[in-house]
Amino acid sequence: MIVQSLSARNFRSYERAQVELGERVTVVTGDNGAGKTNLLEALFFGCVGRSCRTRIDAQAVRFDQPVARVEVEGYESSDRHSIAVALDRKEGKTYFADGARVESLEPFEWRPPTAVFMPDRLELIKGAPGVRRGHLDQLIAALWPARRANRRSYAEALAQRNALLSRGSGGDQLDVWDRELARHGRALIADRQEGVAAIEQRFAAIGLELGLEPAPTLRYRTIADVDPEDEDAYVTALADRRESDRQRGFTTFGPHRDELVIKHQAREVRTYGSQGQQRISLLALLLAECEAIAEVTDRGPLILLDDVMSELDATRRHLLVERVAGIGQVLITTTEIEHVPSEAPIDAVLAVADGQVAPAT
Ligand SMILES: Nc1ncnc2c1ncn2[C@@H]1O[C@H](COP(=O)(O)OP(=O)(O)O)[C@@H](O)[C@H]1O
Ligand SMILES: [Mg+2]
Repeated sequence: MIVQSLSARNFRSYERAQVELGERVTVVTGDNGAGKTNLLEALFFGCVGRSCRTRIDAQAVRFDQPVARVEVEGYESSDRHSIAVALDRKEGKTYFADGARVESLEPFEWRPPTAVFMPDRLELIKGAPGVRRGHLDQLIAALWPARRANRRSYAEALAQRNALLSRGSGGDQLDVWDRELARHGRALIADRQEGVAAIEQRFAAIGLELGLEPAPTLRYRTIADVDPEDEDAYVTALADRRESDRQRGFTTFGPHRDELVIKHQAREVRTYGSQGQQRISLLALLLAECEAIAEVTDRGPLILLDDVMSELDATRRHLLVERVAGIGQVLITTTEIEHVPSEAPIDAVLAVADGQVAPAT
């Protein structure tokens, strides 16, 4: 879906915002604290149904107001679509798709796949492995929706086995769950390896283009490194650890302990990368995913880039804008309009000031 208009009421600093977006690149300018990130967040909220900044949605309701509302409109193929999300401090959220009240936005596949780059998201690069695993699993769900089931089945089998271990249950029951865990664990590992395979080359190329020289690398590291064709070997590996797992009270073998490893110059960016290297790694990862999603699903993603220009030099800025404009619909915020290359395919510039947003003159 291409989003053509966004309107927000009582969302963050906006009492009212109503804007038309460009179909390719929209630039949002304004001073620090003006409300640029708030506008990006509102767009994300309207497309995804939650905030990209906080888990506590109510924080996005304008101070001293009871309800926020965001609406987006646009088209997918030749059909017009709309989404509205109302957020009531007391009652929670209400969703509307094409004007009808719905329980969830998830089934509406015409919504754009959405990627956000903002400084808070560095956690994805720097944080614990579980953050990256969860992110990779979301990529897999976006690329191949049917495979969501593998992840769910694995999590269920894992919870069952852990419960049996901590209860000290007998071997027969564990045998059953070891087999289940092996089946779903192998499927999950295969999905994740395929997910990484779909983005690793793009990741390296984009990282290099944006200034990481030599190119950074992306790899799925599994601790369950038994022959993927051999379910029995996996079952044996679980059985071998059964006693020590019982002592710890949880399963120590399997993809719930795997890692998505990002390296630059053979060292993990997570631990040794500079802030700048971590930012570029994050950007390269998100853009590589967007390219893969666009290619596999034939749907153009919505790419929200918050404050991405300030740390790039002019050449890199140019390469970045060229690249993202070729992937999907893009919003870029910046305090300095000069930071956006003048030859870029920009079709709208919005200026934020005094709590208002309007087309720049
Ligand atoms: N729930 C809220 N209600 C009203 N104002 C808010 C709310 N949350 C944040 N703000 C205000 O939004 C402003 C920051 O906007 P932001 O979009 O982050 O600025 P920037 O243009 O620098 O990205 C701050 O002045 C902050 O007080
Ligand atoms: Mg900001």
